[in-house]
Amino acid sequence: MRILIIGCGSIGTSLAFTADSLPEVSKIYLFDSKPNMAEKLAEKTEKATAVDSVEGELYHSDLVIEAASQEAAKFYLPMVVERGVNIMVMSVGALVDDDFRASILEKAAETEARMYIPSGAVCGVDGLRSAVEAGVDHVELISTKGPKSIEGVDYVLKKGIVVDNLTERTEVYYGPAREAVKLFPKNINVAATVSLFGIGFDKTKVRVIVDPKAVHNSHELIYSGDFGQAVCHTYNIPSPDNPRTSHLSALSASHALRSLVKNVLIAL
Ligand SMILES: NC(=O)c1ccc[n+]([C@@H]2O[C@H](COP(=O)([O-])OP(=O)(O)OC[C@H]3O[C@@H](n4cnc5c(N)ncnc54)[C@H](O)[C@@H]3O)[C@@H](O)[C@H]2O)c1
Repeated sequence: MRILIIGCGSIGTSLAFTADSLPEVSKIYLFDSKPNMAEKLAEKTEKATAVDSVEGELYHSDLVIEAASQEAAKFYLPMVVERGVNIMVMSVGALVDDDFRASILEKAAETEARMYIPSGAVCGVDGLRSAVEAGVDHVELISTKGPKSIEGVDYVLKKGIVVDNLTERTEVYYGPAREAVKLFPKNINVAATVSLFGIGFDKTKVRVIVDPKAVHNSHELIYSGDFGQAVCHTYNIPSPDNPRTSHLSALSASHALRSLVKNVLIAL
């Protein structure tokens, strides 16, 4: 299998090393908009080559992995899907826009391109996906963050909350996921993933809590329906090379890649 990775930061690097270790992967193409990122990473691997465009590499790539940014996902998704190439998307927030998502899914249905979305930084999406089959009536995501993660968020500033002055746990937002992903862009991927695999951006409720004593970025995913009730709490440790990304995100992407490439024991 030949893999093209867009974005050679924290997640892209981890994916390149995973891909490099898999005998089923014959070639890895690396692309990054920042000069030298792809080249430096390629030097540390055996099978990777840095490339200077995505479009030119699509005809010999079996799987594209977007691990760059929402802008990159919005730009490259239509191009990749149009060419009928499978793609794994990490910047899931790019799929919040209903019209954009519908157009991508329509194109993918035509070209038979597949879109893979790893569960990322949150646990419990597996059960949620299953539960939806029978009907889910309530989904709530409670994200608890330290003040640094919320610093400078306009919405919180306008409420007159100075996060650095907080001495106890304080709820700064409760409302639909659609609104939350706009107001808290750093929380966008988890809320988007939960909404996409659950009951959508309007019915999914998000609570954002600032905890001055928080040592983890935690996500509590609670859902109920015909199946019963689930409460899944993830206490994330930041990625060693990017404090904005939870370590579990890169691990989830690596596992997804391994499953796709090996095609055995696939956890669905
Ligand atoms: N699904 C999830 O749960 C989840 C969790 C964490 C991060 N993410 C998302 O995954 C993406 C990658 O995360 P990361 O921690 O590796 O980020 P990072 O900042 O460490 O790396 C991103 C890399 O992509 C490159 N890049 C940015 N825009 C680009 C473009 N248009 N074309 C080519 N390269 C581009 C940057 O130069 C950088 O090297 C981000 O969008 C992040 O929000 C998703």
